[in-house]
Amino acid sequence: MSKLTKTIEPKILIPEVKIKARVEEMGQEITNDYMGREITAICVLKGSFIFYSDILRKIDLPVSCEFLGVSSYGDKKVSSGEVKVTLDINDPLEGKHVIIFEDIVDSGLTLAYIINMIRSRRPASLRVCSLLMKPEKMRIDVQVDYVGFKIGSEFVVGYGLDDAGKFRGLPYVGYIEQGH
Ligand code: IMP
Ligand code: MG
Repeated sequence: MSKLTKTIEPKILIPEVKIKARVEEMGQEITNDYMGREITAICVLKGSFIFYSDILRKIDLPVSCEFLGVSSYGDKKVSSGEVKVTLDINDPLEGKHVIIFEDIVDSGLTLAYIINMIRSRRPASLRVCSLLMKPEKMRIDVQVDYVGFKIGSEFVVGYGLDDAGKFRGLPYVGYIEQGH
């Protein structure tokens, strides 16, 4: 049993090797799509920090790093639709080729909020890259240009994703079995 999880050990949904391979593919895809340009890569905190640091090292382009803190859930498992900005981006985004890196798109409400906020700063282009997506739970029409894995409606943890602050350090994406 891992020291990170103490009593509950999540079940593996996406193993570490699969994440690694897919992250590498996505990084290459972004490299090809943006060839010859410089990108501004926004890490949406907190959940995306592990995905972000891994994919950045697979993107062979000049990259400017920005960090945006948002909180939409509190400790609940259902999106409130209310997004709180906990850390804003200070540098101007006008004229930049911006890519937003998300850990997961669930209802899409958080992402829709972030897209509106970034668009108002007039970047030259704006795309979204998310490691995970739950198509059945989408409640709003938002475009995600790069998707790592489409998953079901289950609540997942690990590889940056948390359940009430726990499990972020797991190397895989897992879920907690009912009954815990
Ligand atoms: P949305 O607004 O419903 O799309 O939720 C987006 C945010 O909720 C994500 O950026 C995550 O921080 C969190 N979230 C949604 N689903 C999960 C999950 O299955 N596990 C952990 N966090 C999640
Ligand atoms: Mg997030």
